[in-house]
Amino acid sequence: MEVISVVGQKGGCGKTTMTILLASTLAYKYKKKVAVLDCDTLQQSLTKSRINDLALITPYEAVDENGKKVKMVQDGVMFKQFKEQNIKPYDIVRCKENVDDIISYLVRKDEEGCDYALLDLPGNVDNTDYFRIVSLCSIVFLPFIVDSLDFDSNFAFAKHTHQRIFEVNEDCNLKKMYGYWTKFDETCRPLVFQSYCEKIKNELPDLEMLQFRLGNTKAVGNDKCRNTLLPPNKQFLGYGKLGPILNEMYEKIKMI
Ligand SMILES: Nc1ncnc2c1ncn2[C@@H]1O[C@H](COP(=O)(O)OP(=O)(O)OP(=O)(O)O)[C@@H](O)[C@H]1O
Ligand SMILES: [Mg+2]
Repeated sequence: MEVISVVGQKGGCGKTTMTILLASTLAYKYKKKVAVLDCDTLQQSLTKSRINDLALITPYEAVDENGKKVKMVQDGVMFKQFKEQNIKPYDIVRCKENVDDIISYLVRKDEEGCDYALLDLPGNVDNTDYFRIVSLCSIVFLPFIVDSLDFDSNFAFAKHTHQRIFEVNEDCNLKKMYGYWTKFDETCRPLVFQSYCEKIKNELPDLEMLQFRLGNTKAVGNDKCRNTLLPPNKQFLGYGKLGPILNEMYEKIKMI
């Protein structure tokens, strides 16, 4: 079993969004056995997403215009897709950001024959377990945004993570760190973008950047796209290079 995480210190850089998109793609498009660990105990965004997604397809009783009791669902199209594709939802488990709890969960999932476990972590590097948890992953993806505050924060984080994981920690499972551009605005200043690319290339030569850049697009937040019960809707994969970047991530994951 391979352990995957989208990591970054900056709040709101799309870690949870990408975790859901990746988990649903692996599970429902590529039919892999997937489990997700929601370690963000404060926000529990993943756990809440699953509750919201389930509410959209759970039948409820209503009364029609003739006073007859009828079964309804909030989203009929989603309900039909879920049934037709015979989807078995992947596990989403809440867990403290504690290395021992995470290890025991991962061991259990490995024994159950899981192909991939994804960890959704908060950007809280102050937790003493943080780098030990990241070093349990085989592959991590780091989001970068072309914005001076966002970039500086995640760049410093990437350098620190690289140093802690690869240079200090001897007991490390991590094989590869990839970076990717997200919330990318094609009209951003080209020289600024170029200077960030240079900085990564010069100061983090081991960090391979993904070829595709995820655009700044509201589509990813749409529940037809970012859904824990269905693969991202094809219509949304066309926005902001979402489809190509998910394919590229899958190619990298397969290579581990
Ligand atoms: N590529 C994108 N384009 C536009 N909006 C995006 C993109 N990726 C994520 N978002 C939006 O950014 C917001 C924050 O995303 P998300 O919660 O996934 O970030 P996070 O890194 O997990 O945040 P936190 O550190 O608080 O856990 C959400 O509203 C999400 O829909
Ligand atoms: Mg999050």
